[in-house]
Order: sequence, then structure tokens, then C-alpha cells
Amino acid sequence: MNYQIKVNKTTESRLAKEDFSDLGFGRIFSDHMFVADYDNGEWGDFRIIPFDYLPMHPAMSSIHYGQTVFEGLKAQKNDKGEIIVFRPEKNVERLNKSALRMAMPEVPEDLFFQALDQLLNIENEWIPGGEGRSLYIRPYLFATDEFIGIRRSSKYKFIIFTSPVASYYSEPVKVYASDEYVRAFPGGTGFAKTAGNYARAIHPVEEINKRGYQQILWLDGIHKKFIQEIGTMNFFVVIDGKVITPSLEEGTILPGVTRDSVIALLKEWNIPIEERKISIDEVADAHNSGQLDDAFGAGTAATISQIKAIGYKDDEFTLPPFEERTISNRLLEALSAIKTGKIEDTHNWLRVIKPV
Ligand code: COI
Repeated sequence: MNYQIKVNKTTESRLAKEDFSDLGFGRIFSDHMFVADYDNGEWGDFRIIPFDYLPMHPAMSSIHYGQTVFEGLKAQKNDKGEIIVFRPEKNVERLNKSALRMAMPEVPEDLFFQALDQLLNIENEWIPGGEGRSLYIRPYLFATDEFIGIRRSSKYKFIIFTSPVASYYSEPVKVYASDEYVRAFPGGTGFAKTAGNYARAIHPVEEINKRGYQQILWLDGIHKKFIQEIGTMNFFVVIDGKVITPSLEEGTILPGVTRDSVIALLKEWNIPIEERKISIDEVADAHNSGQLDDAFGAGTAATISQIKAIGYKDDEFTLPPFEERTISNRLLEALSAIKTGKIEDTHNWLRVIKPV
């Protein structure tokens, strides 16, 4: 289907005013955003407009009851100057799975791509070059009924905006496995990319920050021992040459696009990879027997982030020096080369955005 997207471009671009030498993450926003409204069972009023505040009714239901889902993906440019996006079909698929769980309408895949292509063509100049930098794309969907009460909203907004970014973490992180706070249970919303899954990390992370840890390593809610994920990314550990990552089968962790790509690459490289339950005790035993080779997080924002140490109760399991981490270093290099089109896209992971 061809959606009629109205375009209203800004007369005052902010591009020249922004400081691209110190991007950080999520602080700078490009000039435009795509907006669509859902009402009466269908999406309409498609528009690309200057990035700006949105009017909000005080009783807007998503603010009260959390019917909101989002995505994160990145655009870069290849040597030919074409805009390339890494595995965006996985993001629209996950957006719609999250939406289903949160009783929200799906965003048609062709609408997602038309909006993305048109927006990226307009924001072309905002895509930063340089190692580890990209244009982060944030699609999100939220309920807009003006109503106090728990029920499926009848109105929604779908928005895509973009933000030039550097790496989410500028250095390796220390994570702390909490046996106090819990993120997700089987049957809950752990697999969905919904706001509450992230909000619940903020307080525990503030607590562990005081003890020198940057992020929480979530454990399962029943036994408080099986690792789920880190507050900002999926978790991988390498024990005696074997890579292990928590499996998706209980629906308690985010099915990460970077996670999936890491598993695919490891399989291709014939490096043993197991998706299964992994307890914090197994990590402790590996550390104590000198077999804890590597640990890292994987996510769109975080890419591959090496873990410096894992805290648990009063113990701390330290990891080998970064230069010895053959697996995470190789993954970081390979993924960055694939995403920037520096090596052949043998997996068909890149969408080249056609000029419109
Ligand atoms: C992403 O990786 O895209 C996320 O949404 C995680 C967040 C920490 C920025």
C-alpha cells in the first residue's frame, strides 16, 4: 500500500548548531519526526513534521496505565554514501509482538518502512560518520484515550524520531546481580519492549551505582538465581571457550536483534553457543575455577559492551583483561564492519534506503 505522508519541513534546521564532537547518547534530536494517529480501527493522518513538543491531555491513558511500546535501531552510511539500516524488519516484527501483548494495534510493516525511508531521506545529513557513531532511530507507540480506567485504548499515536549518537557506554561496565529486585516472570511482559520493563531498573541501578556498579544483572523472580538480562542489554558469558546466553523460551527476556545476530555469527564461526538457563552460581564456579573467559552485553544502543566484573551478594567476579577477550572483541569488530557496509552483507541484514 502507498501511504500519503504529508511533509512539512522546518524552515530553521538545528543541524549546524549541534555539537557533533560530543554526541553522547540520546541528548540531541534531529529536525523532523514522523507521526501517525490510530482511531476508529485504522491508522491515518500520516505526516512528517518539525520535531517539537506534543500537546497532551492530562488523562492520556498511556501515562497512567503504561500502554506503550518502543523500538531502537540504527542508520549509518556505507562508502557509497547510501543510508543503511541494520535488520529493521526484526524491529517492526518485535514492535508488533510487544503491541499484541500490551493490547495495542499493530503498525503495518509497509507503513513502518515507508515512514522510515522517507524520514531518513529527509534527515540524511544528521547521520554522523565516524567509529561507533550512528543515527539512532526511535519508533514508539502509545495509547492516547482521554479516560481514567483500565481497558484497551481506542486511540494511539505512532511516532518515529531520530537522534545522532555515539556508543551508549564509553567504557566496559560492572554489573551487579540482584537477588532483591525482579524484572520479569513467566507469563509477564518481559519479552515486550515496553516502558515499565526499563522503569523498574532505575531505582535498583541508583542503589548499585553507589557501590561502583553501572548496571543491574536481573535474575529470575522465582529462584532468584537464573540470569535473565542486564538493564540495558542481553547477557552473554564465555566459560571455558563455550558461549552461553539465557534462552528466550520463558518469555522473560527481550529477544534482542543484536543478541540474535551474535548467535548467528558464533554459529558461523563454529564457536560453541548455548541458549539455556544459566545460574549466577555457575558463573561464580567458573570464576573460582579460572574458566570465566569473557562476559558481555549485546544491544542496539550498547552494541557489544564488555563486562569488567560481576557483583553478587558480597562477592565480585572479575573478568580477564579486555585485550584477552577474543570472542567479544571479534564480535564487536565484525558487527561494526557489517553495519557500516565495510564487509559483504552475506546475511542480507542491511536495508539500503532508496532516495525518495
Ligand atoms: C536499545 O538498545 O535500543 C534500547 O532501547 C536500550 C536502551 C538502554 C537505550
